[in-house]
Amino acid sequence: MSQARESQHQALFKPIAFGPHTLRNRIVMSPMTRQRSPGGVPGEQSVAYYQRRAEGGVGLIVTEGTCIGHPAASGYNNVPDLFGPQALEGWKRVVEAVHQAGARIVPQLWHVGPIRRLGQAPDPLVPGYGPSEISEGGEVQVKAMSLDDIEQVIEAYAQAARDARAIGFDGVEIHGAHEYLIDSFIWSQTNQRDDDYGGSLANRTRLAARIVQAVREATSPDYPIMFRFSQWKISDYGARIVDNAAELKVFLDILVEAGVDVFDVSTRRFWEPAFEGSSDSLAAWTRRLSGKPVMMVGSVGLDKAYSIAQLRGNENPDAGQADLAPVVGQLQSGAVDLVALGRMLLADPQWPTKVFENRLAEINRFDREAMQTEI
Ligand code: PHB
Repeated sequence: MSQARESQHQALFKPIAFGPHTLRNRIVMSPMTRQRSPGGVPGEQSVAYYQRRAEGGVGLIVTEGTCIGHPAASGYNNVPDLFGPQALEGWKRVVEAVHQAGARIVPQLWHVGPIRRLGQAPDPLVPGYGPSEISEGGEVQVKAMSLDDIEQVIEAYAQAARDARAIGFDGVEIHGAHEYLIDSFIWSQTNQRDDDYGGSLANRTRLAARIVQAVREATSPDYPIMFRFSQWKISDYGARIVDNAAELKVFLDILVEAGVDVFDVSTRRFWEPAFEGSSDSLAAWTRRLSGKPVMMVGSVGLDKAYSIAQLRGNENPDAGQADLAPVVGQLQSGAVDLVALGRMLLADPQWPTKVFENRLAEINRFDREAMQTEI
């Protein structure tokens, strides 16, 4: 313990309240799609994968996106579900293993929305669901959601949260980022509705708020609800849902009022300024404007960001270690409260322990091999 007290990294290791619990440090495993839950069921490999990161010392794990119980929630093969007895049993084993190792864990509740296309699992005849219709080649690939569809999806989020709590998860994260369902309502480019769920920023945020409220009602007043949002989209890294701090405030106020406890601000590089005229990141702005704890993410511990296409493609996404001082600085100044790592924790599950013990030279390198053969 004495190493950390003296180390320049000690801000990473200060415990923090998380609902009725305490996280042992500020290091979070970021959600990452792994596509290895055949039939939607996380198995032994997933138990071991999360257990190793918990044993490596992270304070909190946000799981990979896990599908709520709606026919169009999934858009990728072999991603896990958070409904049905088998998937819930699988997740329960993950939760138990993570708790045994002293970490906390929340599932990321996921509906891919208009990213889905016909032909995808589990039912190839089910199109994508989104705010507005998308037709390609004369075929409706994404269905414009009716008000009944919206109610059904909200209930599916609520049920997933109920189930998450019942099997021991320490809270939930609602995936409201990256052009998936909730974000596709928020983003003006994908939302052409003229009802209560389209038009103004407040209307476009209505689905997100109703889901947060429903999750709150389905759980308890002190059950941590995290909400992930982003400016960037899978199809457009330069996209924006808000153009300035005033708009960000409108957006955040609605979500805080609905019941969000922690914002997970998804950026690709944590140090980038959010708006012109200030060097503050989107996470720092969010912390200040919302008054809520904030988790930052984006190439932490690494010296390069990569696109999803690069990570999924043939290029070797090799990245070296970066100086941690800027990361620690964000915590020390109170700009953010939690720091999430993705790639770095694939490369080295022991990252938190190695940083705590000042064994930085022993941290594994991130490259394609680390990503594909990750243990
Ligand atoms: C991906 O599988 O590439 C993916 C999944 C969820 C995200 C972002 C990317 O939020």
